[in-house]
Amino acid sequence: MRTTLISTALLLLAQLAAAWPGTVHKHGNVCTVIPSVDGSDDSQAIVSAFKQCRTDSTVRFENKTYHVDRVMQTTGLRNVTVDLKGTLLWSTDIPYWRNNSVPLGYQNQTVAWIVSGSDINWTGHGYGTFNGNGQPWYELSHGISDVHGRPINLVLRNVTDSVFEGLRFVQSQFWTMAIQSSENLLLENIYINSTATNNASTINTDGVDTFYSNNITIRNWSVTNGDDQISLKANTSNVVIENCHFYKGNGIAIGSIGQYLGEYEFVANVTANNVTCVDSQYGAYLKTWTGGGGGTGYLNNLTFTNLIVSNITQAVAAISQCTTYINATGGCDTSRFQISNITWAGATGTVANKYIAQFQCSGVEPCPGISMSDIDVQTNVSSPVITCSNLVDPTGFDCTDAA
Ligand SMILES: *[C@@H]1O[C@H](CO)[C@@H](O)[C@H](O)[C@H]1NC(C)=O
Ligand SMILES: *[C@@H]1O[C@H](CO)[C@@H](O)[C@H](O)[C@H]1NC(C)=O
Ligand SMILES: *[C@@H]1O[C@H](CO)[C@@H](O)[C@H](O)[C@H]1NC(C)=O
Ligand SMILES: *[C@@H]1O[C@H](CO)[C@@H](O)[C@H](O)[C@H]1NC(C)=O
Ligand SMILES: *[C@@H]1O[C@H](CO)[C@@H](O)[C@H](O)[C@H]1NC(C)=O
Ligand SMILES: *[C@@H]1O[C@H](CO)[C@@H](O)[C@H](O)[C@H]1NC(C)=O
Ligand SMILES: *[C@@H]1O[C@H](CO)[C@@H](O)[C@H](O)[C@H]1NC(C)=O
Ligand SMILES: *[C@@H]1O[C@H](CO)[C@@H](O)[C@H](O)[C@H]1NC(C)=O
Ligand SMILES: *[C@@H]1O[C@H](CO)[C@@H](O)[C@H](O)[C@H]1NC(C)=O
Ligand SMILES: *[C@@H]1O[C@H](CO)[C@@H](O)[C@H](O)[C@H]1NC(C)=O
Ligand SMILES: *[C@@H]1O[C@H](CO)[C@@H](O)[C@H](O)[C@H]1NC(C)=O
Ligand SMILES: *[C@@H]1O[C@H](CO)[C@@H](O)[C@H](O)[C@H]1NC(C)=O
Repeated sequence: MRTTLISTALLLLAQLAAAWPGTVHKHGNVCTVIPSVDGSDDSQAIVSAFKQCRTDSTVRFENKTYHVDRVMQTTGLRNVTVDLKGTLLWSTDIPYWRNNSVPLGYQNQTVAWIVSGSDINWTGHGYGTFNGNGQPWYELSHGISDVHGRPINLVLRNVTDSVFEGLRFVQSQFWTMAIQSSENLLLENIYINSTATNNASTINTDGVDTFYSNNITIRNWSVTNGDDQISLKANTSNVVIENCHFYKGNGIAIGSIGQYLGEYEFVANVTANNVTCVDSQYGAYLKTWTGGGGGTGYLNNLTFTNLIVSNITQAVAAISQCTTYINATGGCDTSRFQISNITWAGATGTVANKYIAQFQCSGVEPCPGISMSDIDVQTNVSSPVITCSNLVDPTGFDCTDAA
């Protein structure tokens, strides 16, 4: 009788405890995050787990749903394994996120979760999931590019010598990821899918954007979204993209870049190999701001090999120095951003219109070293079109029209 009472009381207590927001169980150097049972916020428990197991440790998520209602910053990690078996589900409290998401420090974007550290091994086993619950954000943005405070789901900032693998990202609020001031990263076996449940636009649901980062390998990703699958931006170097499948969206983007007056920016030494783009706007394309952006710098030594395209809606390859917002000044011939040594070698498949390539370089900064070879792509016309302006000694192709 007495034991029954006690165990009933204990059970009640346990249930009460479980109804509280998430908690952390720490055993040795393993911190396991226990989610609340009533769906209340688990973000503070998650932050606490990363604090308690910041070095030489493991942070573990069970195969359960964790609710993330608040901004998280988990920094200073060193030699940490993150074992994500569950789903992190972000709240849709739009006013909260718009007021509280953290500045990225570039392009006025903001962030829901910032991770920093070195020697991180983050594994999702192919099912650990980030669910940004993006549908209300897609409806809010009405196809408008930038709604201030619409957060990037995950930013890796000052992360070095780390591996992120086997992760799923669905319904990202905005860009899925950004990689900022980071080096020596491998991101492998990653599934991203931001698809609206109605006809709302998923503009700006980029897969990943990079800034001030070096030596990044992106391997075996599947990305379905409504914007750039990969976008390499300011001061990105030595990137390998391989064995990826991209659906819808825009394809591989370099830029946009050159937005800020007085800034000198670059992207250099990039290879993309064996990337399949289905129903995308481009295979791989480069975009810089007009002189109205005012930034200078260069894109150099970018190579795209073995692209497989299907139903591409713009062109396999493209360069545009025309990026601008409404009323920004400067025409397409005003960009002082230098583009050189860009190669597309090997492409097969189909485009849905007449364009193989659209190369529009700036009149004041023409592009040397533009090359295409082994482009075996069906268009919907018998004489495919390659438009060009301001190329210097292009190799492997003939321009058919002015850009
Ligand atoms: C990393 O942490 C693990 C424990 O999680 C420890 O066994 C290992 O020695 C650490 N490695 C280094 C280089 O400190
Ligand atoms: C995760 O848990 C669900 C039930 O909550 C189960 O259906 C699923 O198989 C589990 N997944 C893995 C990989 O263990
Ligand atoms: C960022 O966006 C906010 C809200 O639209 C605006 O008030 C602010 O001026 C912007 N900042 C910059 C640097 O553009
Ligand atoms: C970057 O992280 C390292 C530790 O990994 C730290 O020593 C350094 O201060 C951090 N840099 C910045 C700018 O936060
Ligand atoms: C990361 O951890 C997983 C298991 O948690 C392990 O299988 C894998 O080898 C580790 N990767 C690295 C690069 O340490
Ligand atoms: C680039 O990063 C990888 C880890 O992804 C590392 O193994 C390699 O040594 C790094 N390369 C250089 C030149 O530092
Ligand atoms: C992406 O998600 C949509 C909606 O859930 C689904 O129909 C589509 O098959 C998914 N794409 C991939 C490549 O998994
Ligand atoms: C090309 O990438 C796909 C995944 O998108 C992979 O299955 C295939 O093995 C890769 N091919 C080569 C030759 O590496
Ligand atoms: C171009 O980049 C590749 C890596 O993508 C590098 O191996 C090669 O040395 C670079 N070439 C030049 C001329 O910088
Ligand atoms: C590009 O690669 C070349 C050759 O390896 C190297 O000299 C140059 O520094 C690299 N550029 C950048 C920005 O890393
Ligand atoms: C081609 O891609 C476009 C844009 O993604 C899509 O709307 C269209 O349905 C696709 N066409 C076919 C035949 O799949
Ligand atoms: C652009 O400039 C024109 C003329 O100066 C002005 O009428 C219009 O309102 C401006 N549009 C925007 C979006 O600022």
